Amino acid sequence: METIKLHNLPHKVNRIGIGTWAIGGWMWGGTDEKVSIRTLREAFDRGLNLVDTADLYGFGTSEKIVGKAIREHGNRDDLVLVTKVGVEWDEKGKVWRNSSRDYILREVEDSRKRLDTDYLDVYMIHWPDHRVDFSETAEALQKLMDEGKIRSIAVSNYSPEQMDEFRQTAPLHILEPPYNLFERDIEKEVMPYCKENDIKTLTYGALCRGLLSGRMTRDRKFEGDDIRKVDPKFHSNRFGQYLEAASKLDEFARKNYNKTVRDLAVRWVLDKGADIALWGLRKPDQLEGIDEVYGWKIEKDAMQQIDQILQETITKPVGPQFMAPPA
Ligand SMILES: NC(=O)c1ccc[n+]([C@@H]2O[C@H](COP(=O)([O-])OP(=O)(O)OC[C@H]3O[C@@H](n4cnc5c(N)ncnc54)[C@H](OP(=O)(O)O)[C@@H]3O)[C@@H](O)[C@H]2O)c1
Repeated sequence: METIKLHNLPHKVNRIGIGTWAIGGWMWGGTDEKVSIRTLREAFDRGLNLVDTADLYGFGTSEKIVGKAIREHGNRDDLVLVTKVGVEWDEKGKVWRNSSRDYILREVEDSRKRLDTDYLDVYMIHWPDHRVDFSETAEALQKLMDEGKIRSIAVSNYSPEQMDEFRQTAPLHILEPPYNLFERDIEKEVMPYCKENDIKTLTYGALCRGLLSGRMTRDRKFEGDDIRKVDPKFHSNRFGQYLEAASKLDEFARKNYNKTVRDLAVRWVLDKGADIALWGLRKPDQLEGIDEVYGWKIEKDAMQQIDQILQETITKPVGPQFMAPPA
């Protein structure tokens, strides 16, 4: 197991974090509370000690399920809880960005209640909101940290310019950006900016919504409101290209490391410099493979061979921008 120290937190944190968006059900075709709790408890028992959730995931559902799992686990202080604020919703499921001071100060109380905790280890702004001065947002988080309700401050999906603006008013401890073999925009500016300014990276989508899991097939049916129904990577001839790339990477991982594409995908994120890779989990059998990520490394020439596979296979790459909520 590999661990890392995060700013302001007493724990060493596992470099694989538990992602709980799907556990909220919304945009993932529904949830099963009992199975979700079982998954979380097994993950805690296996040493995964960081949980990433958000008020938005299932409009409070993910936070409530995480809260119940932690209560059953029995030792909240063993765990690092990350939750988010900054996207509001109504009862019809319409969502919009809101990083105003009033909304943050109200919503933090609801999150603490749902998660059944006095403090949040990491409190994160989910998406940048340009209708609100970044200084107002940063000041609200600083106030919560001064009051002991949160231990550290984070943002997600921010550019270096946006982080610069935020940091004029409050410290920034963590950035949560998308990062995986198929979505690499942060390599150019975001990752270097974080390294330079000692901002830890908690990256999301290591398995690219299942494309890099080794289990995805062309005839996979997505139920209900599953986000992959509108994800451009899962449509037209692009889907074929991404599946082919995953299959070639699987072959490469088996031949060179006796691993699968799933193991390679998460190892790659860590070896490329992310501090923590989030792994989206909702069923206990998805924990299988976590131990396969540790104990080996992808060397430089293997990195180049991986790049070549990607360049040769994916001729029409597309990013994760479709996930952004309305500005
Ligand atoms: N800050 C943000 O804006 C933001 C955005 C997106 C995500 N996140 C966070 O990052 C977390 C991870 O991202 P993600 O959930 O989008 O995607 P992910 O981790 O890249 O992939 C999750 C997918 O992988 C599949 N999977 C998981 N474990 C598997 C295993 N062992 N074998 C085979 N398949 C497996 C799941 O399959 P099934 O479909 O079969 O369940 C699911 O489709 C989220 O849960 C959330 O906490 C944050």
